[in-house]
Amino acid sequence: MSIYVLGISAQFHDAAAVLVRDGEIVAAAAEERFSRVKHDSGLPFRAARWCLAHEGITVGDLAHVVFHEKPLRKFERLLITQIQTFPKSIDAFRRTAFAWFPDKLWVRSSLAKGLKIDARKVIFSDHHLSHAASSFYTSPFSESAVLTVDGVGEWASTVLFDATEKGIERLAEVHFPHSIGLVYSAFTAYLGFQVNDGEAKVMGLASYGEPRYTDEVRRVLRSRGKDGFDVDLSYVTYHYSATKSFSSKLETLFGPARAPEGKLDVTTPEGRKYADIAASLQVVTEDAVVELANTLYERTGRENLCLAGGVALNSVINARLTTRTPFKRVFVHPAPGDDGCAAGAALWAYHEVEGGKRGPALTRPGLGASWSHEEIGKLLSDLETPKDELADEDTVIARAVDDLVEGKAVGWFHGRFEWGPRSLGHRSILADPRQPGMNDRINKKIKFREQFRPFAPAVLAGHESNYFELAPGTELLTPWMLGVTPVKEEAKSLLPATTHVDGSSRVQVVTENANPLFHRLLGAFGKATGHPVLLNTSFNLKGEPIVSSPLQALRTFYSSELDVLYLGRFRLPNTAIGRHFYA
Ligand SMILES: [Fe+2]
Repeated sequence: MSIYVLGISAQFHDAAAVLVRDGEIVAAAAEERFSRVKHDSGLPFRAARWCLAHEGITVGDLAHVVFHEKPLRKFERLLITQIQTFPKSIDAFRRTAFAWFPDKLWVRSSLAKGLKIDARKVIFSDHHLSHAASSFYTSPFSESAVLTVDGVGEWASTVLFDATEKGIERLAEVHFPHSIGLVYSAFTAYLGFQVNDGEAKVMGLASYGEPRYTDEVRRVLRSRGKDGFDVDLSYVTYHYSATKSFSSKLETLFGPARAPEGKLDVTTPEGRKYADIAASLQVVTEDAVVELANTLYERTGRENLCLAGGVALNSVINARLTTRTPFKRVFVHPAPGDDGCAAGAALWAYHEVEGGKRGPALTRPGLGASWSHEEIGKLLSDLETPKDELADEDTVIARAVDDLVEGKAVGWFHGRFEWGPRSLGHRSILADPRQPGMNDRINKKIKFREQFRPFAPAVLAGHESNYFELAPGTELLTPWMLGVTPVKEEAKSLLPATTHVDGSSRVQVVTENANPLFHRLLGAFGKATGHPVLLNTSFNLKGEPIVSSPLQALRTFYSSELDVLYLGRFRLPNTAIGRHFYA
C-alpha cells in the first residue's frame, strides 16, 4: 500500500500544497494558481483539495499533513525581536498581535478543520529543513551538501547541511536579523520595487549597470569569512518595521530611494545609478553565497551541491557556483522559494518520519492541474469563441510553427501547469527569438512590463552548446530555467530577442522526457528555421499569477495583443469579438 504525505506551506508568501506518494511528488500547486491572488499566503485549502482529488484519494489515505515550519518558534522570534527593538517596533508588534493571536498560532486546528482531518495527523517540519529536503530529495544525488539561503524561517536565514542516505544533518546556521535574502529585499524596496516580488527585477536591472558601489554594499552586508556574514543593522529596519525595510542611513550612503514603481529609464544618469547599485548588490550577494558554499565544501567534502531558499531564484549566482567553488554539480529545486517548502515538508516526513525509501529524481515540471480536450471543447462551445479544432498533435505543431515563423506571439496552453514560478512549456507565451524587437513588443503590448525585463530562450536538448556557454556541472539547472549563462558570440545576433543586454540568457533546455509536445514543437521549429530555439515567457499579465485554467488563458489572451492561442488542440485567433466578451 502506498504512503501518502501532504505538505503545506503558508503564512508568509507563496502558499502551496504538495502530495507525495512513496517519495515521489505526484501533485503540486501554489495556492495563487487557484485563488488568483499573486503570492497568496493563506492556508492553501484549494490547492490541497485539488492534490487529493487529482490522485483520487481522501484525507483518510494520508499518513500525515506536514506544515513547513514551526509556528511557535517563529512567533517567539517575532516577539523577542520586537521587545528588543521596542518602542520602534510598536506598529509591527500591533500587526503581529492581530495576525498571530486569532489566526497564525493555531495552524494545527485550522488545518485539521479546513481539511477535515484528525489534528493528530498534522505534524511540523522546520522551515530551512523543508527547503533543504525539497532540493535534496528531488535531486538525483544520493549524498550532497545542501545550502539554504532565504529571508528568514523560524530563526535561521541561512543553513549549511550535509545530506546522505541517513538523512539531512544541520551543520551551521546564521540567524535573523542577519539575512542575505532580507538585505536583497531591502535594496529591492530602496530601488522602488515591491518586496517579495521585485527581486527578479533587481536582477534584470543589474545587467544594465556597473558594480561601482560594491564597497558601499559591503558596509551593509559584511563578510565574516568562514563564519559567514552579518548585517550592519543601522542600514535596515526590517527587524522592527512591518512596512519599511531600509533606514535613512542607507539613503545617506546611496542617495534618495527611487519612488516606488515609478518610471525607470536606464538611459538616464539617474536610472543608470540605480542599475549600478543593483549590479553592486548582485556582486556582493554572489560573493556571500560563494563564500558560504566554499565553507560548506570544506566541511562536507561532497561533490554535489543542492540549493534552496528564495536566494536560489537568483539564476546568475546559481550558474556560477560550479565555477567559483570546488563543487562538481549543482541542483536547485524548481520551486526554491517558500512554495517549495510544501514539497520539502512532505518529503522530509516521508523519509525521516515514515522511514520511506528514496523516490525518483524530479525531471518533469508539469505537476499541476490539466483539462481534457473535451472539457476545453465544451467551454469554447459554451462561449461561442471563434476557433479551429485541429485534427491531432501533428497539426498543432505544424500550425504553431507557421504562426511563429510569421512573427506571431503565441499563447501555448498544454497539459498540466508547471510547479514553481517559471513557465516551462505548459503555460507559456512563445515567439521567434530571431526577430529583433520581439522582446520590446511582448514587454510593451502583451505583458505590460518594464523595458529592461529580459526574456528567456528554450532550446531543444542536444543543441544548447551551439548557442550557450554552459558551465560544466550546471546541466541540472537548465530544465528549470534556473541558471543564467553567457550566449556564444556568434549566437548573439541570431537570438536578439532572448539575449540580455549583458550578453546572457536564462536558458531552458527541453528534453523529450520533461515535456514531449514542447520538445516536438522546438524540433519542428528548428527544422523550419535551422534554429531549434524559442522565446519562452510566462503566460500572464504583469502582476498576475500565471494562468492555470482555459478560462484564465482566454481572459489573458484577449486582454493582451497576443496573436494566437493554442488551447490544447484548439487554435484561436485574437478577434475583436473575443476581446469584447472576455477581456
Ligand atoms: Fe523560505
